[in-house]
Amino acid sequence: MKILMYSVRDDEQAAIKDWAQAHDVQVDTNDLEFHPETAALAKGYDGIVIQQRSAIGDDPSVYQQLADMGLKQLTSRTAGVDTIDIPAAKAAGLTVTNVPAYSPNSVAEMAVTQTMRLIRNLELFDGRLAQQNFQWNGLQAREIRSLTVGIIGAGRIGGTAARLFHGLGAKVIAYDVVRHPELTDVLTYVDTKEELLKQADVVDLHVDLNPTSEGLIDAAALKLMKRDAFIVNASRGPVIVTDALVAALKAGEIAGAALDTVEGEAALFNQNHQGEVLADTNVAQLMQMPNVMITPHVGFYTNLAVKNMVDISLDDVLTIIQGGQTEHAF
Ligand SMILES: NC(=O)c1ccc[n+]([C@@H]2O[C@H](COP(=O)([O-])OP(=O)(O)OC[C@H]3O[C@@H](n4cnc5c(N)ncnc54)[C@H](O)[C@@H]3O)[C@@H](O)[C@H]2O)c1
Repeated sequence: MKILMYSVRDDEQAAIKDWAQAHDVQVDTNDLEFHPETAALAKGYDGIVIQQRSAIGDDPSVYQQLADMGLKQLTSRTAGVDTIDIPAAKAAGLTVTNVPAYSPNSVAEMAVTQTMRLIRNLELFDGRLAQQNFQWNGLQAREIRSLTVGIIGAGRIGGTAARLFHGLGAKVIAYDVVRHPELTDVLTYVDTKEELLKQADVVDLHVDLNPTSEGLIDAAALKLMKRDAFIVNASRGPVIVTDALVAALKAGEIAGAALDTVEGEAALFNQNHQGEVLADTNVAQLMQMPNVMITPHVGFYTNLAVKNMVDISLDDVLTIIQGGQTEHAF
């Protein structure tokens, strides 16, 4: 049995080797995205796994091409599968699978880390230290146990973040369109987004991106926040109206922000633009602000998450090849 994995990074190789040995399956890799031009590489394989930023496209012939090679599935080792035309793949007889949750802790820990950095004013101290200014005046920190963390979207990641914040002693409140009774030992639900925004010292976003969550944090929402409150976004960029965030930060309506994801990130994130003058985008403006921290969508990027993405995706391929069913099929 042979499986081909597309778009493989060096940091995935150890997990792939371990899985291949444990299952006695040959797993070959390349560093190419899956497109009509690279589809022929899958010839002779029993299964394939992809992971990519750009869309495969909606040309049904590429999916039929895979089926004609004898493949039964198309597995993405990501949660999002917006790169795949699922109806076209299904029409060709392929089972499409994803990895919906590889490690909620990976992103939740990122949100906790960024929150701690914000409340300790570490970004502002870094700025002073870069100027050889070792003073601490004006930058007294607040302890997390004295604060209310408001989580919008207490699902897999938000629920995990709630447990971590609760463990650190914070008061945790949450707003979600669905309530999870198993979380009520660590958080208190509020009825409206507005109520949460007014009460929280840190607003932590973990909604999935959907028509109700796009633009959830707009100018009116930011105005409801306390002037000394912070916002942390490790969900999806378009959940915040970035123009409104930039304006609110400039006007001092909120104290700062940590963004692992931001509208327009695809033009910059996971690329090296050293030495270039960045176009005057919102991202560039936010990067200039001393009270804003940007990380390039790396919440997911941990040892355990990468291993789980590899293991869960390959397990599903094997199951399907052997005629079984997986709960991750669309
Ligand atoms: N930064 C990263 O590297 C990274 C990695 C993985 C996932 N993510 C993002 O994290 C987010 C959460 O992922 P998850 O697996 O926890 O998702 P999930 O589906 O388990 O949880 C999302 C929660 O948001 C709630 N929600 C949706 N729309 C809402 C709205 N308008 N108002 C209030 N609540 C709403 C849902 O009811 C659900 O409980 C997603 O946006 C995902 O894309 C980021």
